[in-house]
Amino acid sequence: MVPWATHAGPACQHAGVRPGARQVSFQGMDQAQWTGLVSKMRDNYRTPLSDSDIQSIGLYLSAAYGSEERAPLPVAQAGNLDDLLSRNACLGCHALEQKIVGPSFKDIAQRYREQPEALRTVAGHIGEGGSGRWGQIPMPPFTGLSSEELEHLARYVLEQ
Ligand code: HEC
Repeated sequence: MVPWATHAGPACQHAGVRPGARQVSFQGMDQAQWTGLVSKMRDNYRTPLSDSDIQSIGLYLSAAYGSEERAPLPVAQAGNLDDLLSRNACLGCHALEQKIVGPSFKDIAQRYREQPEALRTVAGHIGEGGSGRWGQIPMPPFTGLSSEELEHLARYVLEQ
């Protein structure tokens, strides 16, 4: 069972983290901080989670909640692709050539490249997240990204 499909488990309830809940104290936490928090909760509550579960949950939480309230980037920085990819943990779930949690960027490019409106379609899907296009595992939404950032990421994926 993938942790982000059922993240209303005991550990998350203890932390008061629920989808849609606005948690002032959790805003702006990065992946390392989320992972540290989840790891601490495991020890406190003796939850049976492996280290790799903890990594995955930390990754999910930072992607879904950590950046939610982030201030918009200054325009000069919006184009920094490496920063966008790493800050949003894209490469924790995607690789260029092979499927990890999500499909490889090459497979995505192949599916959409020839379509009219490919850029807009893919940018929209990155922002909204969702599931069912590639399998049952959902991709978290990235509502904190501007439309330029989404298009920048989509263009990069489509170039693979
Ligand atoms: C927690 C794991 C996870 C993270 C983090 C993640 N993705 Fe995904 N992504 C997925 C999964 C799973 C799918 C397949 C969803 C589906 O089947 O519809 C997916 C699908 C996609 C797609 C294909 C959408 C389509 O139109 O078919 C693109 C493009 C994409 N991701 C880009 C990104 C980018 C860019 C980031 C970083 C901003 C990112 N992903 C972060 C898991 C993730």
